[in-house]
Amino acid sequence: MRHLLDILDFSTEELDELIAKACDIIENPDKYAEKCRRKKLATLFFEPSTRTRLSFEAAMYELGGNVIGFSEGRSSSASKGESVSDTIKVVSNYADIIAMRHPKEGAPMVASMVSSIPIINAGDGGHNHPTQTLADLLTIYREKGRFSDLTVGLCGDLKFGRTVHSLINALSRYSGIKFVLISPEELRLPDYVTNNVLIKNSIPYEETTDLLEAMPKLDILYMTRVQRERFFNEQDYIRLKDSYILTPDKLDNAKADLCIMHPLPRVNEISVAVDNDPRACYFKQVLNGKYMRMALILKLLEVE
Ligand code: CP
Repeated sequence: MRHLLDILDFSTEELDELIAKACDIIENPDKYAEKCRRKKLATLFFEPSTRTRLSFEAAMYELGGNVIGFSEGRSSSASKGESVSDTIKVVSNYADIIAMRHPKEGAPMVASMVSSIPIINAGDGGHNHPTQTLADLLTIYREKGRFSDLTVGLCGDLKFGRTVHSLINALSRYSGIKFVLISPEELRLPDYVTNNVLIKNSIPYEETTDLLEAMPKLDILYMTRVQRERFFNEQDYIRLKDSYILTPDKLDNAKADLCIMHPLPRVNEISVAVDNDPRACYFKQVLNGKYMRMALILKLLEVE
């Protein structure tokens, strides 16, 4: 039995297979419409979500399966003090696969240790968000046709932004990747990611606070929201929240084929005026996420 806790749980060959499967689903949706008949997905969301939860649910319905679950911890017995382990042992009796989001880093790992069915990490605290990375990879593949030889700018809250941590892990396995890490000093990439991924694997990277200076060299610009829910101090959030606001004029020196990404939700970091730019790919990411989650459910349930 396989789980997806960290994007590195899958080899690059397995990621290629998932992308090929997602592309086949896009081309031939009817072929997959009954693949998960009589199967149930449980969505256990102890933290708010729009895209991840609803795209998992849409994915399972489009595979002919069913969905059970909750969208906030306080509507589950966690509010009465039930542990993650006990919740998972219980839900394992009702469903075939679980997608869970939890504010505590490592909670999906704990779940996987007691579960009799596959666990998917749908985001754990400021740690990882591997299924967002699946959406990101399909977007890069469809927009750029490759994962190698790309200069990737990651901008905003690189400290708490779990999607950034997972994406760096995933892209670091391809050749010719360079990262430009654009953030305020206080929201720099955590040392554990810099040391264990970038330095350990000799991946070229630079750190800067200056988005405009970095812009001309980027093939991908991955904007992120400042993660209000992870701050201990509201004043710090207010001071940092508008550090970067992408507006059309800031793209004047960008490449013509720049791919602008954002895991969403956005708050203020990309002006809505950018949405009309053909380089804006963040709503394509949303749809790609559904297809990759379909491919993932098929893989973990071992459905041919
Ligand atoms: N990208 C993402 O995880 O969005 P949600 O928080 O809405 O699921």
